[in-house]
Amino acid sequence: MTAGPPRLARVKALAKINLSLKVLHKRPDGFHELRTIFQTISLGDALEVEYLPSASTGIEVDSDLEIADNLVGRAAQSVMNAANVRGRVKLRLRKRIPLGGGMGGGSSDAAAVLLALPVLAGRILPTEDLAGLASDLGSDVPFFLTGGTALGVGRGTELYPLPDAPGFFGVAVFPPVHVSTPEAYRGLDRELTPGFKPINMAKFQVLSWTLARGMTPGEWAALAENDFEEFVWGRYPELATIRRKLLGSGAKPVMLSGSGSSLFGIFSERSGLERALPALRGEKAETFRLVSRAHYRRMWRHSLREHIEGESWPPQSRYAQ
Ligand code: C5P
Repeated sequence: MTAGPPRLARVKALAKINLSLKVLHKRPDGFHELRTIFQTISLGDALEVEYLPSASTGIEVDSDLEIADNLVGRAAQSVMNAANVRGRVKLRLRKRIPLGGGMGGGSSDAAAVLLALPVLAGRILPTEDLAGLASDLGSDVPFFLTGGTALGVGRGTELYPLPDAPGFFGVAVFPPVHVSTPEAYRGLDRELTPGFKPINMAKFQVLSWTLARGMTPGEWAALAENDFEEFVWGRYPELATIRRKLLGSGAKPVMLSGSGSSLFGIFSERSGLERALPALRGEKAETFRLVSRAHYRRMWRHSLREHIEGESWPPQSRYAQ
């Protein structure tokens, strides 16, 4: 095997919000059955993925934040096993998406490794294999293999692309509170009751039609639901206070992201967002835009442009034999 120079890609692993999030019932596997609409946003972590062919495999993770059981290392190991390649992998992570904020940062970082590493290693994995590795890593990981606006069902790993949401502006607020995801699910106290409830999909259908003809923030606010909100506002009153601040600033809708603790507010125009920011002084906050599937893929192809051939998705490696 010829070593050659290390192959390096610098990628941005975007965060997500949920346009809507319904938790139906507990499943026999211990997870909950979801109906959600995922959406990528422009806020993202910076990740460098470096691969050097070698007779043995070693994976190094360098992160600016201490992260217990960092998913990126596990993602890299799963690619090396599935692609049956050996080499030295270095992952350098610079976090901007808060940990445990419900914005899918760790999941997006892991998906970024699943997309970039096979390209750098010259071993393209079929999309279904990538999806399998992604759902083994976590319920939110598969969404980041495609990004944009997508319906998630099952554990959240079964995905259906939807028409793009408009390129709205938003602000995310990161309160200094940690909401444990398993605890938030337990707080919902859902029963083990499968059974088919057609009503659960009705709002999703309306939301999908509304997306297809260009949704306004007001329509989104009328259809948006996040089942974690009632539990989280009650358990963490400081988050309910931030919610009121965001509503007072003119944002619409204002929602909890995933199971929290981040909240976000939406504006149709940049000017509305800018007028709202003084009201959030003192809060840890980041502005963002919604990112469409086409934009997400363009961004990815651009980040991997030295290493890929063609326009296919996931990107095809130039190093493939
Ligand atoms: O899949 P992930 O590791 O992200 O899930 C973290 C935890 O969230 C799970 O251990 C489970 O407690 C809960 N969860 C759930 N139902 C889902 C997704 C997550 O109960 N659909």
